[in-house]
Amino acid sequence: MVNSTDFSDPARRIIVALDVPDRDGLLRLVRALRGHVGMFKVGKELFTSLGPTAIELIKEEGGEVFLDLKFHDIPNTVAGAVRSAARHGVAMLTVHTSGGSAMLKAAVESAREMVSAPLVVGATVLTSLSAKDLDDIGMSGPPEQAVLRLGALGLEVGLDGLVASPRELPAIRERFGSKPFMVVPGIRPKGAASHDQQRIATPAKAVSDGADFLVIGRPITQADDPVAAAAAIADALVEVE
Ligand code: C5P
Repeated sequence: MVNSTDFSDPARRIIVALDVPDRDGLLRLVRALRGHVGMFKVGKELFTSLGPTAIELIKEEGGEVFLDLKFHDIPNTVAGAVRSAARHGVAMLTVHTSGGSAMLKAAVESAREMVSAPLVVGATVLTSLSAKDLDDIGMSGPPEQAVLRLGALGLEVGLDGLVASPRELPAIRERFGSKPFMVVPGIRPKGAASHDQQRIATPAKAVSDGADFLVIGRPITQADDPVAAAAAIADALVEVE
């Protein structure tokens, strides 16, 4: 198996979010982009549509899988979900840090019991949420405070890393150092549409602020030429490395 965290080729930092509803969309993107990016992210749209077949198809095509279902449930249920994901051979998966300490600990422990343990990373605050949105759901204070609080909770029980917006990266690296893997969505190359994302940055800025993996969806998947879009992003990263 390829080492998921070897970034000697900056293109390996790119995780393409396969937010497509069907097998054809998946195969079109994976066949075009394998070898040009690091991993493929299976999220709620694709998994709800194809189930574990989505993971199998990507692996059959030689891709590595980041399963982003943001598990958030009672500890026993999440532990079982993590075991199931590990059996499917995913390289990395997400749990939601707002599930609390016991749930996060159960996720970490069940991953480590598996023969090929996936990296377990904790989603903190969705990059689509603004400070006002957080206020509306009772999480008052700036997003950065919530990210640091939830991040501390996850890293204390041994999560391998966190998912956070590029805006919080400097504060996260200052508080938690260089060890946790930072998986960062909300990435937009210069001039690209922001869509529904609020707290965004360019690929180069995110990596220079401490991102390990960049989760990129629409700027690649909806480009006329997805391979050229991914290559342009990787090129922009060479200057930062
Ligand atoms: O198309 P775009 O680049 O905005 O896609 C970003 C991807 O990252 C989506 O699949 C979304 O589910 C995911 N994500 C996010 N914010 C988080 C965690 C995951 O946007 N905090």
